[in-house]
Amino acid sequence: MKAVAHTGTDIASLTDIELPTPSPSGRDLLVKVEAISVNPVDTKQRKTASATPRVLGWDAAGTVAAVGNAVTLFKPGDAVYYAGDVTRPGCNSEFHLVDERIVGRKPKSMDFAQAAAIPLTAITAWEAFFDRMKVVKDRSLLIIGGAGGVGSIGIQLAKIAGLSVIATASRSATIAWCKELGADHVIDHRKPMRPQIEALGLKHVDYIANFNEVDEHWAAIGDLIAPQGAIVLIVGNKNPLQVDAVRAKSAAICFELMFTRARFQTPDMIEQHKLLNQVADWLDSGKLRGTLKETLAPINATNLRKAHEKLESGTMIGKLVLKGWT
Ligand SMILES: NC(=O)c1ccc[n+]([C@@H]2O[C@H](COP(=O)([O-])OP(=O)(O)OC[C@H]3O[C@@H](n4cnc5c(N)ncnc54)[C@H](OP(=O)(O)O)[C@@H]3O)[C@@H](O)[C@H]2O)c1
Repeated sequence: MKAVAHTGTDIASLTDIELPTPSPSGRDLLVKVEAISVNPVDTKQRKTASATPRVLGWDAAGTVAAVGNAVTLFKPGDAVYYAGDVTRPGCNSEFHLVDERIVGRKPKSMDFAQAAAIPLTAITAWEAFFDRMKVVKDRSLLIIGGAGGVGSIGIQLAKIAGLSVIATASRSATIAWCKELGADHVIDHRKPMRPQIEALGLKHVDYIANFNEVDEHWAAIGDLIAPQGAIVLIVGNKNPLQVDAVRAKSAAICFELMFTRARFQTPDMIEQHKLLNQVADWLDSGKLRGTLKETLAPINATNLRKAHEKLESGTMIGKLVLKGWT
């Protein structure tokens, strides 16, 4: 089968290769991959050299080609979408093995490219809001990094949860995108945030989801979080976090890593199957809209290099997808 893999750490090391097609066992599905999306995890993982060619990619849509002997949720021919498991080979290959418990049915109203844009970011935002912060409706939420992949679906999920959403964006195109997705207010993360929050008539916000760099925003987060509020972080901090401001307010600090359930094979890993199916229902009913902004074809090293470059520029709006193998 065709695949794109890296050994070195630079973008140029992404190379077209041929690999044997794997066969499924246990709860694994063998998926014929039709489209893949690219996330910052791909560029971060690429920065670790690999002794043997390593396939990246943790966002895919495709069709089940074969199933392992313990599979109960899917059958060959089913259209699926999923993010996968960072401890296993990624999905930048024609065929790919993934545990059925972290796979959802592809939204019927979407083509494979549109569907591939959704899973990783939707799982992250869902788990951040519902499983980690356990948000309650009619409260305020600040999403730092509103126009990126996670923010784009996060704004919409937060609106479904009944929250008042303040998203951050710093360019006219990203401000417009956040508003289009339903953010109630948009403020600029490159300017002091307190005066902008006060201009909205607020002193604090009940929840803060930081979907970008932590160190840069941590002081503002500590200042803006409401007493007894909750904060979720999805990116690692480089410097030790000063927690005094947050501790004084008895606010919760939550971490969200969407690969945790698969990595540790937690007993509840099937929750990702369930949430992806719920997200598919909401996409099909029009409650959620797609976040795909740019498609490259086919899936090969040349286009994957372009995608990694774009991701590393930090200027993504919504999602970028590669589709097809010819
Ligand atoms: N823990 C997890 O499970 C998990 C899952 C997914 C992603 N992540 C991590 O979360 C981060 C975001 O992922 P993503 O897919 O949303 O990235 P992305 O799509 O590349 O994000 C791009 C957006 O980031 C905004 N941005 C750039 N610099 C910023 C800054 N200093 N402060 C706030 N926003 C800034 C930009 O908005 P403007 O152009 O308006 O500035 C741009 O729209 C990445 O570090 C990724 O690795 C973690």
